[in-house]
Amino acid sequence: MKRYAGIALLIGLGVVAGCRRHPAAETGPKPTAYGAAVVESSGGKQVGEPGGALPQPLVVQVNDAQGNALPGAVVRFAGGSDVAFSPAAVLTDSSGQATTTATLGDTPGRYTLTASTPDAAGKAISLQLTELVAGYQEQLGERLNAVYCSRCHNAESTPQQVSNYDNLDVKPHTFTDGDTMNKLSDSDLTALISHGGPALNRSALMPAYGTTLNKAEVQALIAYIRLVSDPPFERTGVHYGKQ
Ligand code: HEC
Repeated sequence: MKRYAGIALLIGLGVVAGCRRHPAAETGPKPTAYGAAVVESSGGKQVGEPGGALPQPLVVQVNDAQGNALPGAVVRFAGGSDVAFSPAAVLTDSSGQATTTATLGDTPGRYTLTASTPDAAGKAISLQLTELVAGYQEQLGERLNAVYCSRCHNAESTPQQVSNYDNLDVKPHTFTDGDTMNKLSDSDLTALISHGGPALNRSALMPAYGTTLNKAEVQALIAYIRLVSDPPFERTGVHYGKQ
């Protein structure tokens, strides 16, 4: 009798521990393989709208110890309590990939999502993905960037826009370049955007937008630059987005 009680107690503890650590473990798809690494294929660093699904799916790949893509491994996606995934647990397909759609929270800022897969010993191997939510101001900044700035600041051409970057004798930086952008204060950025490069002893190839853009639009551009910078911009003393 005592022995049965002991076993029941162990099973009971196992279930409780299992539920606490892996809420989806009991209900998710059953893996037929266990990986050694999980890597990003696509879908990181997107800019979404508050409470909306990210424009592109998240795709991660599980590899075995030899670095080969592994079908049949389970990937669980997790984020904060305000983040949802459809689906939250996926088996990797024949090319070792697991795809989901993430819907982020209402608060603008930076979201850290996790994709994890168990190894053969049951230990979770995790990958972190950063996604961004742009509020109204940052969305306005993103649109203004597309109209006025990206043709010089983005070296890549798109179907909509041929980049002017290669023609510039002095090279501007992309707004995601946090090492460069984070060194500029808000007033530096305001001066550069409003009065052009010479305002900060820089090249006149950086035009002045003081007559094209109003104050709110300049602020929107700064909010956008702060949102997308990597490494993240730390605004001292102010809670800026969420980790
Ligand atoms: C015609 C090309 C051009 C356009 C359009 C342009 N810039 Fe620039 N920008 C430059 C160049 C060139 C520099 C580098 C100046 C230097 O380092 O001397 C620069 C520098 C900057 C810098 C300083 C950081 C860096 O990249 O070196 C910021 C911030 C900036 N631009 C913001 C903007 C914003 C915001 C817009 C749109 C409103 C914009 N720029 C549009 C060419 C451009």
